[in-house]
Amino acid sequence: MFQKHIFPIVCLLLACSCVVAEENTSTATPPPLTAKDKLIVETVLRLKSFDIESSKPAKEALLRYLRAQPGTDSYFELLERFKLAEMADDLLEFSLSHSDQSNGVRAAKILFSMECEARLRSAIDSDNLERSVAAATLVGHAGGDKTVPLLLPILTSAKYPRGVRTAAVAGIGRRTDGQQALLALVTDGKLAEDLKFAAANVLLSSDQDAIQQRAAKYLELPATADSQPLPPLETLVQRRGDVAAGAIVFRTIGTCNHCHKVLGEGKDVGPDLSEIGSKLSREAMYVSILDPSAAVSHNFETYSLLTDDGSAITGLLINDSEDAVTLRTAEGIDNTVRKDEIEILKKQTKSLMPQDLQRLMTADQLVNLVEYTMTLKKQ
Ligand code: HEC
Repeated sequence: MFQKHIFPIVCLLLACSCVVAEENTSTATPPPLTAKDKLIVETVLRLKSFDIESSKPAKEALLRYLRAQPGTDSYFELLERFKLAEMADDLLEFSLSHSDQSNGVRAAKILFSMECEARLRSAIDSDNLERSVAAATLVGHAGGDKTVPLLLPILTSAKYPRGVRTAAVAGIGRRTDGQQALLALVTDGKLAEDLKFAAANVLLSSDQDAIQQRAAKYLELPATADSQPLPPLETLVQRRGDVAAGAIVFRTIGTCNHCHKVLGEGKDVGPDLSEIGSKLSREAMYVSILDPSAAVSHNFETYSLLTDDGSAITGLLINDSEDAVTLRTAEGIDNTVRKDEIEILKKQTKSLMPQDLQRLMTADQLVNLVEYTMTLKKQ
């Protein structure tokens, strides 16, 4: 009886310490680190069991030490050991700005171990799409058995942008309980249409045969040029292709140059891809090509407008002045429309990049194409 009750109380205390710490953690410029601080921290490190809360000066030295060198090995080791609630905001910001790197995930894991995951959870609600996607991705990597309860409500809520829901699918899909939850949504017909590609990738490459077989009755990956279904992402990222052949795909059957410039060649509709290999991982490259609406790049959101006389134009908003709007269509044509002629101007959730480019290529050609784009690096 007693034990049953003490658990929530302990949780509450931990949760409270996490909240209290919020006030004094604004850390725009880290305080200077002194030689004395270093000495104190080194001493503390040597003591096997030391209650940092018992010494205010030691704790302050430790905080200065940590804030002076975020992301280092000793930063993580100390935080893993002392779980300082005062550092929760620092850890949150560090993890969000390194969400695709292992030290970002390590920071998020410490937040979970400190029971401070509510901070990550509320970052998912941020209006800033990048922050929100980063937070969902981190929960997916660091959440352990809390991943599914945290992310399932997000991927089933139409309130969240597609990029955030897609990140939730990927995160949940790394766990068997998550795959089961996802499969249940699929079989009940409750999975949103725009998440089917992400869900198919996860479920059709599940290491659980039962999940894979059942999912195959409901989901399929889109067909490629030779009518074969696309292999799952997990398989694609392990393959290597031919760079020169990929460069040709880019300029010919892939139609990529209709919208993208590489080193000055090609059209200027989508982002310049001359350095894309430095920006995206191989997996992210595949997702950008195969499911472009999952993460629409900033500044490349699609708008649709309807004029008084009933004509509709869809394209990128390249100019929005006081009296006119210019949309650049998928063909690279700029249409300028006077504002007093516009009935409706609406941001779309879909990318201007076609959703089904894989149908232009075989899986081999796609692998070559990605091999080529991965070589486009910063000089
Ligand atoms: C009709 C125009 C169009 C075509 C064709 C097209 N793209 Fe795109 N692409 C875009 C637009 C617009 C964006 C930016 C919006 C977005 O992120 O979805 C984009 C984004 C991308 C991105 C992400 C860029 C970033 O900075 O994150 C990659 C990678 C990409 N395209 C590769 C390709 C490849 C490879 C092909 C050929 C198989 C291709 N695109 C064909 C219009 C196009």
